Amino acid sequence: MTEKFPIKNLLLGVTGSVGVLVVPHYVKLLREGIAENVHIMMSYSAKKFVTPYSLRLYSGNYVFTDSFDISDEVRVPHIDLTRKCDMFVIMPATANIIGKVANGICDDLISTAVMACMSPVVFIPSMNPNMWFSKANQKNVSILKELGHHVLPPSEGYEVADMKPSFGSMPEFEEVADFLKNVHLLNLQKKNKK
Ligand SMILES: Cc1cc2nc3c(=O)[nH]c(=O)nc-3n(C[C@H](O)[C@H](O)[C@H](O)COP(=O)(O)O)c2cc1C
Repeated sequence: MTEKFPIKNLLLGVTGSVGVLVVPHYVKLLREGIAENVHIMMSYSAKKFVTPYSLRLYSGNYVFTDSFDISDEVRVPHIDLTRKCDMFVIMPATANIIGKVANGICDDLISTAVMACMSPVVFIPSMNPNMWFSKANQKNVSILKELGHHVLPPSEGYEVADMKPSFGSMPEFEEVADFLKNVHLLNLQKKNKK
């Protein structure tokens, strides 16, 4: 683990929460001090908020948006990209992707990639407080943790639907960075014990 880049290959799964609007900037910050390489997958809904082009611009890598996407280096994205990643971060994570992963559903690129991933998977949810505290979502979040995934809860912030401050927003980048570094460190310690 180098001081400059604690994580070598970070895979980012971007889903359709309005919190995605900060993600191009967060990708830039990840590349400046957290991850040497950032590869990105986007859901169909995420593309309504930001474009694959803007995330490619910031990550420097082709952005995958479909299970059947193919590039010169990557033939089967959910297998090839998860095999080489040291950590898979779903940011922002919608109630939808949380529900799908909690129930073993693989009906798009990101949910299928989570199932295939052998590295630590981190969820950074962002959603309206009614959605976050709903019984279904809380149950699904507990299941994610039981499955061994890591979840950084949302923060106080600005809710777009009501145009006012509210709970459920994306955490500040520093909080995200500390959480990812801790998960990575725990994983290294676990591997060294084996
Ligand atoms: C304006 C707008 C904002 C939304 N924000 C959120 C959100 O913050 N969190 C969330 O879980 N879903 C949000 N949704 C709903 C998701 O986009 C929707 O559930 C979608 O099916 C998620 O698909 P995905 O998980 O494949 O990206 C929003 C929808 C709209 C139209």
